[in-house]
Amino acid sequence: MIAAELAEPDDFDAWRNEARRLIMQRVTPEEAVWRDEGEPTDLFAVPSPAPTGTVAKVRASRAFMDLAQSAILHSDPARLGLLYRILWRLQEQPRLLDDAADRDVAALERLAKQVRRDIHKMRAFVRFRAATDDDGIDRYIAWFEPEHRIERANAAFFVNRFASQRWSILTPRMALHWDGAALFEGPAAARRDAPAEDAVEDLWLDYYRSIFNPARLKVGMMVKEMPRRYWKNLPEARQIPELIAGAHKRETAMIATGADLFAHEPAPASLGAVAEGISHCRRCPIGCNGTRAVMGEGPHAADLMIVGEQPGDSEEQQNQPFVGPAGQLLDRALAQAGIDRHHAFVTNAVKHFKFERRGKRRLHQTPTAGEIDMCRWWLDSERALVKPKVVLALGASSARGLLGRTPAIARERGQAIPVPDGSIVWLTAHPSYLLRLEGEAREREHARFAQDLAGLADMLQRLPASV
Ligand code: URA
Repeated sequence: MIAAELAEPDDFDAWRNEARRLIMQRVTPEEAVWRDEGEPTDLFAVPSPAPTGTVAKVRASRAFMDLAQSAILHSDPARLGLLYRILWRLQEQPRLLDDAADRDVAALERLAKQVRRDIHKMRAFVRFRAATDDDGIDRYIAWFEPEHRIERANAAFFVNRFASQRWSILTPRMALHWDGAALFEGPAAARRDAPAEDAVEDLWLDYYRSIFNPARLKVGMMVKEMPRRYWKNLPEARQIPELIAGAHKRETAMIATGADLFAHEPAPASLGAVAEGISHCRRCPIGCNGTRAVMGEGPHAADLMIVGEQPGDSEEQQNQPFVGPAGQLLDRALAQAGIDRHHAFVTNAVKHFKFERRGKRRLHQTPTAGEIDMCRWWLDSERALVKPKVVLALGASSARGLLGRTPAIARERGQAIPVPDGSIVWLTAHPSYLLRLEGEAREREHARFAQDLAGLADMLQRLPASV
């Protein structure tokens, strides 16, 4: 047995160095004993020897490194052994991560996903309370209980977000303290070390009451997004039962006033400001996934706007909407209908790419209704600036972004749907849907798509000329 140990259980570089040493010594995964924080030492394990002889090249794919950097933060003590086993196997099977059905690969992806989720939850659910340092300056202190070792990984986020304030985040494992210029770490804390109540809390409760959107209330989804285990440290969670009870009444009132999540923010004054805004938008989990926001493109004033669901893999890489396979299908169909894409403003209901990683591939994931609704502010801003007379909605997510509801495509496609800003929404299927079909269904749906676009072309021809 060969002992492998990390001074800090979330130190990926240390793990990598240790794992490299073991691989170079040909220490098999069965022989390596990875010791996690607080675990007893294995009395029969010996320290790993320094590498000797010819230095073998240790191979690890980019996809593995990305997943491993997240997975190492998991609280599961078995993660270090799992990472080593996969690294060991990668030496003989460099494409191992492409095999999503492999048990080790599936376990790695699961751990990484759970860690990413915890990171997002911490960003969303840390609640600061005001206190005062000895020198009389305010310090905002939060108590948070992450499931995994994500504190250090999240520190930069909080530093960027609250750079000019002093703050501390206390957790059962450690503390992060920011003094406005430098970050310090402190020892494990207890809930009683953070202040219990303060005046800011009332403001926060008011704010939560004002942004709580009853029109989007799905209790099951809410519990999924805001798991009950976080509720005890969230002042606003105390209001949830009361807010749910009043939801229907408020929904009716909200529809009447058009209130929205961004109601207090000034609308962007230009498409450049939208591009800048979306690049920093972190209001939903997709915005926090580290991908680049893809801005719409086309003439800054256009009669036609074309709206897809969200950028795909190619779009995110090329930073342009509809340039991948779905975009090529769309371009061909528009050309056949006599519509010039270059005269239209082409954009998406959701600005970031939502995906699930499978090995090296990033597989599209459908955004939730909540995520689409959250992004509507940006789509509405584009619409207000471009002022299209007609908006082509491609698929249900796009339609939700435009109409605020999810329509039945079969029932409402290929016809003018008037909307309050005076424009018309024209609904059809999403080109990606057509790409997934085969045989007769494919023929039929392509024909319907062409028919919808022909109807759109006809309507565009009959629009009064712009002045
Ligand atoms: N699918 C979309 O909905 N939008 C794109 O930009 C690309 C694919």
